[in-house]
Amino acid sequence: MNIILLGSPGAGKGTQAKFISSKFNYKQISTGNLLRDEMKRKPSLKKKIFKIINSGNLVSDNIVSQLLEIIISNPAYFNKLIFDGYPRNIGQIIILDNLLKKYKQNKYIVISLLVSKEVIKKRIMGRIYCQKCKNTFNEYFNPPTQLNHNCNKEFLIKRDDDNIDTILHRYETYIKVTGPVIEYYKKKNEFHEIDGNNDIIEISSKIAGIISNLTD
Ligand code: AP5
Ligand code: MG
Repeated sequence: MNIILLGSPGAGKGTQAKFISSKFNYKQISTGNLLRDEMKRKPSLKKKIFKIINSGNLVSDNIVSQLLEIIISNPAYFNKLIFDGYPRNIGQIIILDNLLKKYKQNKYIVISLLVSKEVIKKRIMGRIYCQKCKNTFNEYFNPPTQLNHNCNKEFLIKRDDDNIDTILHRYETYIKVTGPVIEYYKKKNEFHEIDGNNDIIEISSKIAGIISNLTD
């Protein structure tokens, strides 16, 4: 069964998606990471995508769905996909449903992480991201150490969009544009809301409970 993991910026989607992929052998699809990789590969697109991401708005559905289809179409990951931060608007719900239908995959369950705005600000301001292994750490809550991180320190960076102005705008975009997605899924799908203000381990254990109960 595929899984959609939703939540505001800094809610812990990436952290929990990494946990799910390693514990349950899922393929993480972070549309944010796909866009960051795309900027590195295609300098011609970089300026355009960079500007949108740093303004806190959403990149066009068309660009994101092309990147998404490359992974959804790979039979190696059929019904083992975890969507980290997709869909983010109502149009993307339809795009996703059509893609899953096209590749004859099951639908999905939805897990939503609910976190307060104050917690989010501190988490994002403390975030440290590894460009190589794509793991996320935090200078306050979860610093990189020799035990939890093997890559060279030079790969550890702050994301360009992790500044206070962009965070606030990303949060507004989430409430206005992704809020209706959450409401839609609450009515239409198997939907689980989790208090994302808790510790990483506590949240992981709740998610593990949900996934262990899935029937396929
Ligand atoms: P994206 O990269 O997806 O950013 P986001 O949605 O803003 O979410 P984040 O990655 O900031 O947070 P997260 O929930 O993954 O939290 P994390 O685990 O890192 O998207 C970036 C941009 O790309 C968007 O703004 C948009 O422009 C574009 N984009 C992406 N997808 C798109 C789409 N579908 N359509 C159009 N445009 C799209 O955790 C945050 C920090 O907190 C870390 O330091 C972590 O260590 C720490 N932490 C995590 N959990 C906890 C916890 N429980 N307790 C304490 N600390 C914690
Ligand atoms: Mg993320």
